[in-house]
Amino acid sequence: MIRLDRVTKRYPDGTEAVAELSLEVERGELVTLVGPSGCGKTTTMKMVNRLIEPTSGQIFLDGEDITKADPVKLRRRMGYVIQSGGLFPHRTVIENTVTVPSLLGWERRKSRARAAELLEMVGLDPAKLGDRYPHQLSGGQRQRVGVARALAADPPVLLMDEPFGAVDPVVRERLQTEFLRLQRELKKTILFVTHDIEEAVRLGDRMAVFSMGGHIEQYDTPSSVLGAPSTDYVADFVGADRGLKRLSVTEITPEDLEHPPVVRLDDPMSHALARLRTQGSRWAVVLDDDGNLHGWVDDRESDGKVRDRARRMEAWVPVHASLKQAFGEMLQHDAGWIAVVDGDRFLGVLTPARLHEALRRSIGAEESGVPLEEVVLDTIEG
Ligand SMILES: Nc1ncnc2c1ncn2[C@@H]1O[C@H](COP(=O)(O)OP(=O)(O)OP(=O)(O)O)[C@@H](O)[C@H]1O
Ligand SMILES: [Mg+2]
Repeated sequence: MIRLDRVTKRYPDGTEAVAELSLEVERGELVTLVGPSGCGKTTTMKMVNRLIEPTSGQIFLDGEDITKADPVKLRRRMGYVIQSGGLFPHRTVIENTVTVPSLLGWERRKSRARAAELLEMVGLDPAKLGDRYPHQLSGGQRQRVGVARALAADPPVLLMDEPFGAVDPVVRERLQTEFLRLQRELKKTILFVTHDIEEAVRLGDRMAVFSMGGHIEQYDTPSSVLGAPSTDYVADFVGADRGLKRLSVTEITPEDLEHPPVVRLDDPMSHALARLRTQGSRWAVVLDDDGNLHGWVDDRESDGKVRDRARRMEAWVPVHASLKQAFGEMLQHDAGWIAVVDGDRFLGVLTPARLHEALRRSIGAEESGVPLEEVVLDTIEG
């Protein structure tokens, strides 16, 4: 879908930002470009949509040499999320979102409908936030608007330059989870720049590790880069806290879950306790009438209805979250287990033992040769 063939960029002052770079991205693939500041990531990305012209080499989109394409038409086929947000400060959220459709001359009603749809897709309420200005949003909300804007004209290709760079790690992890879910549906071809190795590992189908001067040291799947770094540079770059990275690259799957007894809000406690006894459990998950997660009860309560005794569920994660996120929740809430949900729907619980098994599975699949003890120790110390 995208192919760079020995591309070099030398700026007029002589800086060689990118040297003889070759890279191929398949259709529907998310490739992360990761490396230290100044190594040529933004330059590479901007050559793909011709905001910067290469000094030499060729770039192909769907087999077509882009240096021969009309840059304006080219950019319509590529959504671009600019490093550090880049929203227009004097335009509302909706106006920002429909920047490209407006340029394309879409009718206003159609544009606004599209904006509302996109904002919902990235988890923002258009009725509440649509008419605000960027300075009236949180950092995470601004970054979501940036993503919505890039998706507006439904381009097959997305270029994303540190789209989640400006938020704290907790918000970033949530944005990543949502973005992964979105990409599962949309299957765009994506070049995603980051200098955060964990982000590169978590999001990338493949990742390109850059060194200074725009060299690619290794281009492979995250598992291979982590498990078998091809050079000392890559080993150093990914080397620290490997276990944690392995946790962050492994997703929770429904097979990892345990299924404790489930009771309903309207059940009498006596009924709930009988259920616990038959299933040999000391606690149960409480669901509301729609089957959504409400909380939990344990066997120390015996009177009244479940509704009056249920405690709120604080530790939960969405399915497909990373094991690291789940582990973080467990630690934060000092919980022996956490609930896993799909939207509001309760799927099951993840326990430390199951988390460990999932990690073992991930490592086994990679045959990386990193002893489990090392990984688990890393994890606990981290
Ligand atoms: N217009 C320019 N003129 C001269 N040198 C430039 C220009 N733009 C970028 N550079 C240089 O090219 C190199 C690569 O810059 P680039 O912006 O591609 O890095 P990056 O990997 O995106 O870094 P960061 O992670 O900090 O965003 C740097 O040394 C930078 O100083
Ligand atoms: Mg950059």
